[in-house]
Amino acid sequence: MASLELDSTLVLLSLVFVVSCFAIVVRAGFGPGRKESVHALPPSPPALPIIGNLHKLGGIHLHRTLQALAQRHGPLFLLRLGSVPLVVVSSASMAEVVLKTQDHIFCNRPEQYTARGLLYGCRDIAFSPYGEQWRQIRRVAVVHLLSLKRVDSFRALRVEEVSRFVQRIRAASGVGEDRDGVNMSELIISLTNTVISKAAFGNKLGGVEPAMVRGLMKELTDVLSTFAVSDMFPGLGWLDWARGLDARVKRTAAKLDMVVERTIAEHEENRVNNCEARDLLDDLLSIYKDGDLGFKLDRTDVKALILDMFVAGTDTIYKTIEWTMAELIKNPRELEKVQSEVRSQVAGSAQARIVLEEELEKMSLLQAAIKETLRLHPALPLLVPRETIEDTRVDGYDIPAKTRVMVNTWAMGRDSESWENAEEFLPERFLGQAIGYSGKDTRFIPFGAGRRGCPGLAFATRLVELTLANMIYHFNWQLPNGQDLESFELTESSGVSPGLKSTLILTVKPL
Ligand code: HEM
Repeated sequence: MASLELDSTLVLLSLVFVVSCFAIVVRAGFGPGRKESVHALPPSPPALPIIGNLHKLGGIHLHRTLQALAQRHGPLFLLRLGSVPLVVVSSASMAEVVLKTQDHIFCNRPEQYTARGLLYGCRDIAFSPYGEQWRQIRRVAVVHLLSLKRVDSFRALRVEEVSRFVQRIRAASGVGEDRDGVNMSELIISLTNTVISKAAFGNKLGGVEPAMVRGLMKELTDVLSTFAVSDMFPGLGWLDWARGLDARVKRTAAKLDMVVERTIAEHEENRVNNCEARDLLDDLLSIYKDGDLGFKLDRTDVKALILDMFVAGTDTIYKTIEWTMAELIKNPRELEKVQSEVRSQVAGSAQARIVLEEELEKMSLLQAAIKETLRLHPALPLLVPRETIEDTRVDGYDIPAKTRVMVNTWAMGRDSESWENAEEFLPERFLGQAIGYSGKDTRFIPFGAGRRGCPGLAFATRLVELTLANMIYHFNWQLPNGQDLESFELTESSGVSPGLKSTLILTVKPL
């Protein structure tokens, strides 16, 4: 899942080019001050000509920069990114208005250059503009691909892959001689990729190597997270061409299309023989070819939808598992409590066996630890950017149509108005509280809320919970080489979905 990634190099690049492009931009009618007919815009830091507030957004963690700006300008403030107005929402009460009361106005997605090139002109769900096309494909996902029933149907796949994952950890742990530790990041990424890939394509990859599919899907998310100059300066599209982004998008899109076409071809062949279990691509082909379930899809919709599962599902799930484990290691007393709950709930545990999904609902502390992790480290700290459909007013301020909107769920999770000891990892705060993932309580919205809220919630939480329950049940965990807790830093990587900056390497002792 991607949005804008404003790294300092690009801000500099904009600055350098902005001077020489001044004339073009002014002629094209872009730049701050263009639309000042509205009466009361939200508070805003002073802007420079042409670039607006871009110079304020240096640094690798946009959510942190925006949190600092919110502390100065309030929970609803306005920035100008080149010619584009952006409103930033940083409190539960403002999110309530934007994602619920006025969800019908804030539910568009801004056009993103890389998404257009990679996802068939934004024919997927996540980047699709609000309208009939989005409504159709979203319904296919909600009613069919990601429904509770369909998520349940992947239970055997999850159990099989998590069992393999446990075996791999056991093998890598070298029966107690692994002072250097096991690379858990790598194993978690591999598990997540395999589950998504098998749910989407089964084993029918049209002869393409699984490693190639994995590599390409990573390239897809990397390119989607790359900031395009033309998203902020529509007159400067040639800059994306000059820096090679254009070529990279086209190259990646062509390779992705080749892979998806080959998997579709094998699935089509298989439909005739009808000999294997159904995966998500089979479901989509049934809808496309037979008009099943009253939906209308064409071949391009099928391709864009299947790619969305990878874009939206892999990094988000893997990072949530990794952050939860890292927080539990950093807080050993919490790990001990969760471990004792998990072990006591696994019936007949005389012999190590896989924890089953039916057992997860009794593990309320484990679930609370995952929520607490998502409060502190939401996989998408700024959700996915939205855009207003028409002029509106929020909290007495005018918000014009086509304003971009970012909701800083990361800042909201650390807001001391909403959370006591907001910076501390205290899973028990969620026990006995009716705070779920649905977005009903806007203090806690790691999956977003409203009509553009995440449709993959059930798919994601099942895998996250099952994986962590098994990690915690089967093994005892420590930092490698006697590393002390103080030196184990939970530092974020850069990017729109920040993970742990360093690889998670842990010493494992099998139960
Ligand atoms: C821990 C895992 C996940 C997290 C934290 C997460 C979070 C999010 C967030 C914050 C949004 C934007 C919501 C908004 O704008 O209000 C989103 C959208 C979306 N997610 Fe997820 N997600 C996860 C897993 C998944 C999975 C596994 C899938 C599918 C396989 C998925 C599919 C989608 C799609 C298709 C959208 C776009 C919805 C739309 O625009 O209508 N997500 N997700």
